[in-house]
Amino acid sequence: MEAQKFEKHILCIGAGYVGGPTMAMIAAKCPQYLVTVVDINSEKIKAWQTDELPIYEPGLLDVVKIARGRNLVFSTNVEENINKADIIFVSVNTPTKTFGEGAGKSADLQYWEKTARDILKFSDSDKIIVEKSTLPVRTASAMERILNTNQKGIHFEVISNPEFLAEGTAVADLKSPDRVLIGSRETESGIKARNEVVDVYANWVPRERIITSNIWSSELSKLVANAFLAQRISSINSISALCEQTEADVSEVANAVGQDTRIGNKFLNASVGFGGSCFKKDILNLVYICESYGLKEVASYWESVVRINEYQEHRFVQTMMRALFNTIANKRIALLGFAFKANTGDTRESPAIYITQQLLEEQAHVVITDPQALNNARHDLEGITKNLEFETDPYKAAENAHAIAIITEWELYKKLDYKKIFETMTKPAFIFDGRNILDHQKLYEIGFNVYPIGKAAKTHFK
Ligand code: UDX
Ligand code: UDX
Repeated sequence: MEAQKFEKHILCIGAGYVGGPTMAMIAAKCPQYLVTVVDINSEKIKAWQTDELPIYEPGLLDVVKIARGRNLVFSTNVEENINKADIIFVSVNTPTKTFGEGAGKSADLQYWEKTARDILKFSDSDKIIVEKSTLPVRTASAMERILNTNQKGIHFEVISNPEFLAEGTAVADLKSPDRVLIGSRETESGIKARNEVVDVYANWVPRERIITSNIWSSELSKLVANAFLAQRISSINSISALCEQTEADVSEVANAVGQDTRIGNKFLNASVGFGGSCFKKDILNLVYICESYGLKEVASYWESVVRINEYQEHRFVQTMMRALFNTIANKRIALLGFAFKANTGDTRESPAIYITQQLLEEQAHVVITDPQALNNARHDLEGITKNLEFETDPYKAAENAHAIAIITEWELYKKLDYKKIFETMTKPAFIFDGRNILDHQKLYEIGFNVYPIGKAAKTHFK
């Protein structure tokens, strides 16, 4: 690829769930730019260069194929690519800190800071640095200090451009985002840099959907968006517990409530709990920030969203225990789905991890099946060999099982032949629908004892 013929050089550091798809879309939509994605993980980079991408995301390979070899490059050469770039997106991971001050809540910014130092070390010219990773509000100020106290006489403008894509729908979200948010300093050079990033997205996103703001609003909005989304799930999940006590049906309640246009009908599916790399991490990060500003009440308000989620996961296991006569030792239990949601192989913070651990603690025999997430599941449960099986075929997973539990809402689980499954199971046979995706009446008629979320159980017991 001849470097000179491109209008702009864009670099992304971090080829994960966010960096990879986002850069593939920019490259596909903007043939005039050279887009390079680097990562310290050479296995991951190798996979991005093949048709076996390192992440499962519907439609992503088609987007990658439009641009790869034309204006999209995956590389491990961080040093050389930093200096060539005009705009550098940083999308390295910012996990919850596991040590020292703020452990368990605040964001661990060591990769982010190391990346900033690398950028400084290898740059000989002015650059725009774009925060793609989700960061605590005011991180940009620390970045500016690291980058701009240099002896080289070069200037870095830090821009915040959080990513709102959801896994499983990343391609559609990137192609047609509800909004793109770009925050900057409100100085002359800040606004100039912000406009350059606006111009990149304006190649395919309608201008009215590109919002600009001050840099702190942009950083904070990402945390707040995730906190609000997670709050909706914890709200409906808390109500699901009440429904189970009162014969109200959580789906009917969600439907009735969601028809109010002020509330809206999306993101109101009661479930076994939310997972994913962002919600818990970002809320705890928000909680930590509030605490550090002395806002104790605000911190505990948001922390309760995470606590209700833990409660919901715990409640699911309790329901299984109670239904299975308070003992599951040596009982075979098949978990249908391990990913944190459908259409992804990602298992980060998946409720399946907690549920599996709890069931194993009770000495159940757990069989896990999932169409995309078995490799990640094996990794999450590494070291556990006793009473644990992985099975690609859901029918085989269910064979001789006392119970099956739907953990992930994969389309394929709606279409299984449950009559056939029932016949191979140990009786009485139980099904726990952690996603409310199955036809509960039909399952009951087949002979199952059915336990949905937030609805009365249908059992054959008197
Ligand atoms: C990451 C952040 O976790 C999240 O907070 C943010 O919103 C977006 O970026 P994600 O893309 O899902 O999310 O993370 P991950 O798939 O782990 O990708 C990060 C990549 O950065 C990894 O491939 C890792 O190897 C790479 N990395 C990390 C570097 O290239 N250099 C580093 O110093 C550290
Ligand atoms: C989320 C945000 O949606 C996205 O904007 C942000 O950039 C990253 O975090 P993601 O974690 O990929 O995206 O998935 P999302 O669709 O938000 O689902 C998160 C979790 O909530 C999943 O476990 C999902 O199953 C669960 N969920 C979602 C419910 O339990 N009920 C619902 O109604 C919706």
